[in-house]
Amino acid sequence: MSDGPKLTCIVDNAVQSSSRLWGEHGLAFLIETKSGQVLFDTGQSGAVLLHNLAVLGIDPAAIDALAISHAHYDHTGGLPALLERARPGLPFYAHPDLFRERFARRGERPEFIGLPLAREALEAQTALHLSAEPQQILPGVWTTGEVASRREPEGRSVHHLVREGMGWVPDPYQDDMSLVVEVGSGLFLLCGCCHAGLLNTLSRVQRVFERPIVAIAGGTHLASASTDHLQHVSQTLLETASLRRVYPNHCSGEVAFHALLLALGSDIVRPCPAGTGLDF
Ligand SMILES: [Fe+2]
Ligand SMILES: [Fe+2]
Repeated sequence: MSDGPKLTCIVDNAVQSSSRLWGEHGLAFLIETKSGQVLFDTGQSGAVLLHNLAVLGIDPAAIDALAISHAHYDHTGGLPALLERARPGLPFYAHPDLFRERFARRGERPEFIGLPLAREALEAQTALHLSAEPQQILPGVWTTGEVASRREPEGRSVHHLVREGMGWVPDPYQDDMSLVVEVGSGLFLLCGCCHAGLLNTLSRVQRVFERPIVAIAGGTHLASASTDHLQHVSQTLLETASLRRVYPNHCSGEVAFHALLLALGSDIVRPCPAGTGLDF
């Protein structure tokens, strides 16, 4: 991996043992290439994001671009604190539906779980690049664009809602995107929560980028997947001959992690707590 991009998990629900990193229900990755550094998601809180960046020796002001997988608080909560320290006009990549308000059914009333900053605040502090199409962030680093074709099950939660008229409807997760990083022998797929569905996201990447996927990391939202679906996901990954690493973390769920581990083996399936340097 000497000359290729370097990928590090900055925030996750778990941390590497005996590290000084902090954990929380959230996710962030850093991609370092010869052309610059891209932060993918910001975790749930500025406190954890800034602490972990500091422990890992990463200066927020040196980050060249930010990409956001989707609006949920556990991926965007660190945004305000990051932007206070990031360079003005930081390039910001996301799907146009990012600004739709998101809610979760918790108790009596749906609770807001979306973006912590208004669009106007982001427009003032960043250079917004919003598109449902794939966007190049740096050479070799792309957003997947919208995962519109969803023939396989999505990574849904029955609690996730958006407003429609006077009522509530299930969140369509239209904003959900992943990142693709070119590594020597193929593509590294970095997922946020994969609400669009891991297999739908994989299909999109295979169709759009036409290169083999050699590694996957991030939230795969399989925590409530049925046994049948876990078997189907495992089988599909097993049949993806190019795949050499799978790092399920965040919302993947322990049952899914062990199902994948059993199917694909420990050479391929690895844990991915905060602090993990991803190899491929
Ligand atoms: Fe989410
Ligand atoms: Fe999440």
